[in-house]
Amino acid sequence: MSHENSNEKLSTRAITAGRPKRGADSPLNETISLNSTFAAGGPIGYGRYGNQTWSATESAISALEGGETLIFSSGMAAISAAFSTLAHGARVVASDQGYSGVMTLLNQYNSSGRLIVTFVDLSKTDDVLAALPGADLLWLESPTNPGLDVAELPELISAAKAKKILVMVDNTFATALTQRPLEMGADVVMNSVTKFLSGHSDLLMGSLSTKNVELFQALETSRKLLGAVPGPFEAWLALRGIRTFPLRFNKSCESALELAKRLSSHPQVSRVRYPGLPTDSQHERAKKFMETFGAVLSFEIKGSATDADRLCESSSIISHATSLGGVESLWERRRRWPSESPSVPDNLIRLSVGGEDVDDLWDDIQRAFSAI
Ligand SMILES: Cc1ncc(COP(=O)(O)O)c(C=O)c1O
Repeated sequence: MSHENSNEKLSTRAITAGRPKRGADSPLNETISLNSTFAAGGPIGYGRYGNQTWSATESAISALEGGETLIFSSGMAAISAAFSTLAHGARVVASDQGYSGVMTLLNQYNSSGRLIVTFVDLSKTDDVLAALPGADLLWLESPTNPGLDVAELPELISAAKAKKILVMVDNTFATALTQRPLEMGADVVMNSVTKFLSGHSDLLMGSLSTKNVELFQALETSRKLLGAVPGPFEAWLALRGIRTFPLRFNKSCESALELAKRLSSHPQVSRVRYPGLPTDSQHERAKKFMETFGAVLSFEIKGSATDADRLCESSSIISHATSLGGVESLWERRRRWPSESPSVPDNLIRLSVGGEDVDDLWDDIQRAFSAI
């Protein structure tokens, strides 16, 4: 069933989409299709071109984001496939402080001349608008990782589209439950399925969704030829995770807001970034088009990088680990990674809020603070 015109809520779609056709004894769940090749004459043909389990997962993501979806072996594989559709020397406008993997890739492309990249502060709408003339692609990530900056998505997307500039949005932090960039007119929405959609820190996957048939074909060709395809088991696990994604995400968003409030008045914290906080500099903007504010927050401690590292080592419920979007809460000092932007404060900790009880999380945070 196509969910494009369905009236089902997204929380229902996450459960109903991508199921096998109903019939006597038909399975409720798509099976794991462990096949590298398929009998001739059908639409799949070969395991690098398609797989029934991929299709089920793709249908579920399409039902959430809109458009048609392709899944890849990781978020970065999806992003690389998206950039691969650009001509040599194409002009890209992108955030100067987004996910470090994308920043590193774009910097490499920029130095080699593969792409010409203008880095802008996405929270400064006028700066982004000024950078648009002559661009081929506007790459948006909002909220940004790890600064939690919010871009004025509806305005930026329509301004770029009015200039016939391609717009792609990394929706990993926000997810479809918070904002749907394709409905705002973006050409492609990207997700690191590794994070909230799959939700259990047990697989890597990325997705690209688009309503543009030609773009879909170009991206599908990139997937076939670059070969960064997901494994069928990962696709199955991701789909299993998507079934509970709204339940997990909504609970984590509530807890994230509560923790952001409590951290704001903690004596050892100097600054909290979370767009859902009424005091956050971007709250007014965010609430215009975001339905929730996500489950990741960042905060700076009153202390050094070493103190921040010790804090992250001193929790018992929250794991000291990178990544985000799982049922298990994680935190880390982002600048422990040499690839992280130097504009990110040295003592900034990013906290991904999971599904644990919020008071238990708060006790854990307080205990960790008392240990430094
Ligand atoms: C915002 C964002 N985009 C993309 C990625 C890359 O995804 P993956 O790790 O699945 O390749 C990440 C990973 O942390 C991310 O946080």
